[in-house]
Amino acid sequence: MMSSVSDPRSLKAVEDLPVFDRIDQSSFGTDVASMCAELFADPYQGPMRTTAGGYTDGSVFIYRNAELKTLVSHQALTNQPVKILAAPYRDQRQPDPSGFEQLMGRNLFTMQAPEHGTARQLVSRRMTTGSISRLAQPVTEMVLGLVDRASEEGEVDFRKAVADEAMAGFWQIALGWTPEEAAHACSLAAKSQMSNLLNPSSSERRAIDRASAELLRFLTATIRRQIDAGTQSLLAELVTDYASLPLDAPGRPVVLEEVFGASLLDGLHSLGGVIANVTYGLLCAPEALAAVRQDRDLVRAAYHEGVRLHPAVILTQRHASEDLVIDDLLVPGGTPVTMGWLLGNRDPEAFDDPDCFRLGRPVGPQATFGGGFHICPGRNIVKFLCETVIRAITDSSVQIELAGECRWLPATGLHELKSMPILIKRR
Ligand code: HEM
Repeated sequence: MMSSVSDPRSLKAVEDLPVFDRIDQSSFGTDVASMCAELFADPYQGPMRTTAGGYTDGSVFIYRNAELKTLVSHQALTNQPVKILAAPYRDQRQPDPSGFEQLMGRNLFTMQAPEHGTARQLVSRRMTTGSISRLAQPVTEMVLGLVDRASEEGEVDFRKAVADEAMAGFWQIALGWTPEEAAHACSLAAKSQMSNLLNPSSSERRAIDRASAELLRFLTATIRRQIDAGTQSLLAELVTDYASLPLDAPGRPVVLEEVFGASLLDGLHSLGGVIANVTYGLLCAPEALAAVRQDRDLVRAAYHEGVRLHPAVILTQRHASEDLVIDDLLVPGGTPVTMGWLLGNRDPEAFDDPDCFRLGRPVGPQATFGGGFHICPGRNIVKFLCETVIRAITDSSVQIELAGECRWLPATGLHELKSMPILIKRR
């Protein structure tokens, strides 16, 4: 699929690619099943391009499962540098970087090799299954409490009443935050994550920037306080790892709390989104739901299938650090590359009858969390918390069903439910 640039004249240029114009529609992302079905029925199945402007500004668009899987580990397809990601947020009259640039510059998401490797290892070691499984008991109790509270109310918005609360509760337990602190961090992260809107207005950009600056300050201060208090084992281990790094290691964070805190960004917003998404997928599949109620060993399969159909992220941006060739296409160095993770999860060449919720599909072909060196370090937390919630809502004492129209947020790179009305009660 990929080769080095031999004779550039024999290659297709990015400008020759068909345009993925669905991304310019104001309803983009509200009906992913129809969008994917149309796209994969098209006789043309190669890379496409996006129009100029906005989050996916003039990029090469990759959406086939096989292509995503190959390109994910390509050395020349790096994280998008922060200067490019945050360019629309920069005020030329100000000497300092914008709040958004400061936050994203500390997040692994924009780091480049070799700095990326050191910082990534520090952060991801605190997010392994082994590291977070110690939280299983308090997190399970917290989730059961939320399900009880929702059952007493009867009709609730699942995203707000359970999913987002479970996310905030998880960080409260993991970091030792107060409930108010966890709620404040998640509320700032929700505003900052509006940066995934495909075409934010200038007032939305200002709000994103302000929230990002405040979030970085808040995370740094509260994580530092918790490190000093010495009560959280996860943070104590982070500090031990940091202390063992040679002072001249490339990518050794200057301020540990900033890099660790900023890298939690998706965990403070999309984590709530994906709990709702996975639950939604299961509630839309009554046979699978009944099977999971009968056999608790199917909880894991239900999670994997829910997150395949409804991952929290539709697409993110990468960057060609040098010229690269994909089939007969020359992608010049400096070109943004949009990775359509959700679309790869609905590619019929990778998943038979892709829109069907089917327990027990192989997990390997999923593109949900990317792959290779940049694979999402938060994926273990997502799985852990989603499985805890699925286990709680499929308990034989719980009755749960959708109770109205569930609406998806339009025109964003995230895949998130704006509202998810449910009826829930204890038998
Ligand atoms: C909620 C569901 C989530 C999804 C669907 C998701 C998806 C992804 C994907 C696809 C990537 C790879 C991007 C690329 O290769 O270009 C990624 C990277 C990343 N994710 Fe997640 N993520 C989720 C949750 C989380 C959570 C909970 C955290 C932190 C607590 C997190 C932190 C990160 C970071 C820091 C990176 C950058 C990794 C690197 O460049 O080395 N994510 N995520």
